[in-house]
Amino acid sequence: MMNYKRANINIALLKYWGKTDQVINLPQQTSISVTADIFFTKTNVTIDKKLRKDKVILDDVELTGLAYTRVVQHLNTLRERFKQKSFCVVTSFNNVFIRAGYASSASAFAALTAAYVSAIGEKVDEKELSRLARLGSGSAARSIHGGFVIWHKGTDHESSFAEKLPVEWPEFRMLFTVIDAKSKPISSRIGMQLTVEKAPSYGLFVQECQDLVDPMIKALKAQEIDTVGKLSERSAELMRNVMLEAGIEYHVPETQKLIQSIKAIRSKHHIPVYYTFDAGPNLILLTLADHVDKIIELIPGIKIEVSGVGGGISDTTA
Ligand code: PMV
Repeated sequence: MMNYKRANINIALLKYWGKTDQVINLPQQTSISVTADIFFTKTNVTIDKKLRKDKVILDDVELTGLAYTRVVQHLNTLRERFKQKSFCVVTSFNNVFIRAGYASSASAFAALTAAYVSAIGEKVDEKELSRLARLGSGSAARSIHGGFVIWHKGTDHESSFAEKLPVEWPEFRMLFTVIDAKSKPISSRIGMQLTVEKAPSYGLFVQECQDLVDPMIKALKAQEIDTVGKLSERSAELMRNVMLEAGIEYHVPETQKLIQSIKAIRSKHHIPVYYTFDAGPNLILLTLADHVDKIIELIPGIKIEVSGVGGGISDTTA
């Protein structure tokens, strides 16, 4: 029986899009997310002193190419930090739509980091685990924790970490729509770099992101779905505006059509349903448990996966 570390994906209610440091993944803005309970990565790392290079198996297939290199780069970073030399076998299973704009790299690098630290017998607290996961992929810093999470942008490795917000909101739901499950045309890593370089109003965007942080924390603590929803939509739209300024578009016509439907459901049926999106064409709808069935009924023909609020890093053998 194999022991795995499981990490769930997270969806940013307040987005991060852009870095101040590309090497250690320091973000331009503080972000706030909610961890989902249906999409996750589980990963085992086994140190093997006989190996001459790392071996990475994802969903029963041995990784090669760019995906392999990204994993090895993160393992190298971790080896250096913990003064380790040996290579390892990474066995990982993903039940996320890889690269379809749902944050698979967040759960992947969070699980990989936790599994590596466990394999070498080190004990670090969750704040430190979050810093280490961030080195693999920015948003992975948030997937270490469950519930509603804030990632403080920080100014250096020490000060840029995520932590759980004091919010318990079990009725909160995310509806993952599958409009288009294809790979994204441009990775978020490259997309955000281009945006920082090219979008004329990028500086203003960073300030606008910052202005949303306190209102979002307040609305989450008060469990005000309408305010949380409106702030989330604003954050996603602000991100898309700077992407468009840099000539980057992840939406397809169906994305925009669904946004109109969601707004119509809200105004005609008085249902609290809001949307957000990442670097992809699919919308994630934000609502409360009581409204899920009605919303699904009102958008027929769209594949939807319903998720509640998930937990942080955990151990699993299954
Ligand atoms: O984890 P990264 O560096 O690939 O960034 C993902 C960024 C978004 O998902 C688009 C936004 C966010 O804050 O999660």
